[in-house]
Amino acid sequence: MSFQKLSIDYRIFTSIYQLPSEVQSLFQQATQSLQKSYAPYSGFTVGAATSSKSGKIFTGANQENGAYPMCLCAERVALSNAIHLEREDVLQYFVIVGGALEKMETEFLSPCGACRQVLSETEYRQQHPIRLYILGKKEKVLEFKNCNDLLPFGFVYKT
Ligand code: THU
Repeated sequence: MSFQKLSIDYRIFTSIYQLPSEVQSLFQQATQSLQKSYAPYSGFTVGAATSSKSGKIFTGANQENGAYPMCLCAERVALSNAIHLEREDVLQYFVIVGGALEKMETEFLSPCGACRQVLSETEYRQQHPIRLYILGKKEKVLEFKNCNDLLPFGFVYKT
């Protein structure tokens, strides 16, 4: 028997203006996509935007449904749009914003387990890390070097 410890590095920024301009513009796009959210049940709108190495941008917003489990999170909608990425291109940045952060128990919006799994496998498939930025309360931003850091012991299927 042995004890093990896991730790991850992440950064907290106090404003989006401290981020690279490409990421700032992704925050704008994610915020704009909040308007495309369909969240009549939770009232909690979420927007996501991701950009590729070659500069392509894909956005998403959560899409709820009267049959509740059918709900699609903003992150997975953005990733579905990203299937239009060229084969040789890779996703580099991913930004998530929430429209009503005051409704959250936590200080930062946090992707659900299912989205972590999909983000993590996207990284694995493209063999390139996706730097993740999450908007928090008081305009703070969390930055993770890659999505896999948010899913320790995630399921990876060997193809
Ligand atoms: N939601 C997202 O779209 N992304 C997240 O990271 C967390 C939750 C959505 C799902 C649902 O439409 C609403 O937020 C409330 O859970």
